[in-house]
Amino acid sequence: MNEINPFVFGKAAEGEYFTDRQEDARRLNANLTHGINTILISPRRWGKTSLVKKVISGISNPRIKPIYIDIFQCKSENEFYHAFASTIIKQTSSKLEEWAEMAKTFLSRVSPKFSFGPDPMSDFSMSFDWNPKDDSDLDILQLPEKIAQKKNIRLVICLDEFQQIGDFPDSIKFQKKLRSAWQHQQHVTYCMFGSKKHLMEQFFNDKSMPFFKFGDMMFLKKIPTSEWVPFIFDKFKETGKVITMEQATKICDITDNLSSYVQHLSWIIWYKSGKVVTNEDIDSAVNDMLEQNRIFFQREVEQLSELQMNFLRAVASGITTGHSSKEVIKKYRLESSANVNAIKKALLKKDIIDIEGQAVTINDSLFKLWINRQQFFD
Ligand SMILES: Nc1ncnc2c1ncn2[C@@H]1O[C@H](COP(=O)(O)OP(=O)(O)O)[C@@H](O)[C@H]1O
Ligand SMILES: [Mg+2]
Repeated sequence: MNEINPFVFGKAAEGEYFTDRQEDARRLNANLTHGINTILISPRRWGKTSLVKKVISGISNPRIKPIYIDIFQCKSENEFYHAFASTIIKQTSSKLEEWAEMAKTFLSRVSPKFSFGPDPMSDFSMSFDWNPKDDSDLDILQLPEKIAQKKNIRLVICLDEFQQIGDFPDSIKFQKKLRSAWQHQQHVTYCMFGSKKHLMEQFFNDKSMPFFKFGDMMFLKKIPTSEWVPFIFDKFKETGKVITMEQATKICDITDNLSSYVQHLSWIIWYKSGKVVTNEDIDSAVNDMLEQNRIFFQREVEQLSELQMNFLRAVASGITTGHSSKEVIKKYRLESSANVNAIKKALLKKDIIDIEGQAVTINDSLFKLWINRQQFFD
């Protein structure tokens, strides 16, 4: 039997763990290799990072250099500049001397200093004195274009968790700076991706915002059951276990096809089951997964008002539209239709629900299941 875990979650799905997304991959690859800035949006854990990593690892043209930057940890403009400049320098030069030279040539105004870890070849951090009053931020934002010109290559800069910039102090002003520097760059293509659909759409789809129409907007969809079922079936088979198509379909139904939960639930079922998966294995795996997330969900609920929770109860029980009707308001104690609108807005902003047309969905399918199993009302 294969010793390798057949499923992966909590990190990007790569290689044989990656399934489907051929169309998305083709479109993203075409964009990024032909200089089209791209914005990729989906709720958390559907597969943005996995898709981008797959596409950039497949770029074989030596004149195109992809650079991946995760800005999740960045809390300010200053932190963004540090992450941006050091990753770009690190990934475009192979030798220590080259880093130093690059930094000296292109970042002269910020006087960069290097400090090294145990392996100086891959492990360094760069610090500089960034002063918002001079124009040194422009040096930093022009860095990729200058390096690309000097090395006669094209850079593809992928900025993961881009929604974070919405939390920076003076965010709009910062966005203006980025846009005005980046829109003129001829040798650099940007791919920005993130969750918080509501916020990302506001950045890129709102006429009054700096990044309005900055690039091609891609909305990632869920991987369909027809792709998941053979994937799950084969993974069990390859490792000497048997799961039926119906059981694999059930995994998709329970998780509502949310990529990370499909893989996670499959993993629990896989390690708990004997040679042949039983329906009891599936039920018990679902309970385990709910239990593992219980504290997290309880904390989530603590952040919500009673009315917001009542609304989620309605949605979780299958009422996706018509929340302002008298019956729904009464049954779920939503008080008034004005309240319903305010609740929707707040939950959208918190990235807990999504609204497509009129229909409301809860982003986290396991949270939905958990809500359904709680007894809030008599
Ligand atoms: N194409 C895919 N094939 C298989 N599993 C995937 C795929 N994309 C995502 N996943 C699963 O979902 C999890 C979250 O994916 P990730 O790319 O980190 O999502 P996001 O960046 O949208 O939050 C992965 O760890 C993996 O379990
Ligand atoms: Mg991600």
